[in-house]
Amino acid sequence: MSPIASTSAPEQNTRRSVSRALHAEQLTLATYLDDLVPSLGSIQTQDSADRTIHDITTRLASVKRQVSEKHWFEVIAPMCRAHKAAGLVAEDPYTARALAKPRGFAGDAAMLDFIYTGHAPEGTSETGQRLLKATARSSSGLSVIDRRDRLAAALRTVATERNEARVLAIACGHLREAQELTPDERSNLAEIIALDQDALAIELVKREHPVAQTTAIQANVRDLIAGRLSFQDLDLVYAAGLFDYLSDGVCVRLLGRMIDLLAPGGRLLVGNFSPVNWGRAYMDTFMDWRLIYRTPADLRSLSRQASKGRSVRVEKVYTDDHENIAYLELVV
Ligand SMILES: C[S@@+](CC[C@H](N)C(=O)[O-])C[C@H]1O[C@@H](n2cnc3c(N)ncnc32)[C@H](O)[C@@H]1O
Repeated sequence: MSPIASTSAPEQNTRRSVSRALHAEQLTLATYLDDLVPSLGSIQTQDSADRTIHDITTRLASVKRQVSEKHWFEVIAPMCRAHKAAGLVAEDPYTARALAKPRGFAGDAAMLDFIYTGHAPEGTSETGQRLLKATARSSSGLSVIDRRDRLAAALRTVATERNEARVLAIACGHLREAQELTPDERSNLAEIIALDQDALAIELVKREHPVAQTTAIQANVRDLIAGRLSFQDLDLVYAAGLFDYLSDGVCVRLLGRMIDLLAPGGRLLVGNFSPVNWGRAYMDTFMDWRLIYRTPADLRSLSRQASKGRSVRVEKVYTDDHENIAYLELVV
């Protein structure tokens, strides 16, 4: 007997009407995307690019709220990516890079540079350049810029408050936050240890950052967690754009290790995209960029687990003003 036949008539009716509603939702979205194609193809101004990206993201978010996670990722997201509109939004180099994943994952350091600089590579169409400005300066993009600035502020603070401060940047990417410091501010730091799994990102850090104060290491956080790589008496340890890819268990073990690496009075800072993230539905669909989202309460729970048996004096969790990114700050 098929599973559907074993259910009661009212249950079958409910299932049929849910399935009809989902189908109708899909059709409406497909029609919306069809209608979007001519407007995407004729973007002439920045204002029109901004409005288009805002409209698409809002529309997708509304659909996402109405369907199950399974239906969203297994049906709606692939449908969006297969639609002609996807090819047009991919004129934006930021969207296109996430989709292509040239380093095996979305969210690589070169992609983040599109957000930080807002500059498109040579050969990008005018529409692509406008779309990039719209995605890179969207609410989520602004939160990523704000995150870089928060890291830069943490570097300045540690440089002024601690003598010969030593810092560990985990999953450093291009370490852009350090380039926000003036040479004088930076000279107050004894060492920034910059760790990333990505060989190309590490090469760029070696090329673009002062050799005397930067130790760039290509390594996986697994090496840190397992103790194959170790440091001590650090004044600041931080990770941004990393926890979003790690399971709770790995986050707890990594947080524990990060705490152990700090000197008394040392600080830890972690950022993780929050479920409120404004661009989430656009990222899921047109960028195929899936993250593990966490609220401040989730970060507090990870922190409590990691702090067991360890001494932590201050624990703070909060989000940025846009509520797109949640933060955890500890002082040991
Ligand atoms: C979104 S980028 C963030 C880069 C930088 N922290 C920033 O905020 O601009 C994520 C970085 O994490 C690195 N990464 C991801 N998983 C990693 C792992 N398991 N070990 C080391 N680095 C990792 C990637 O190579 C990438 O450079």
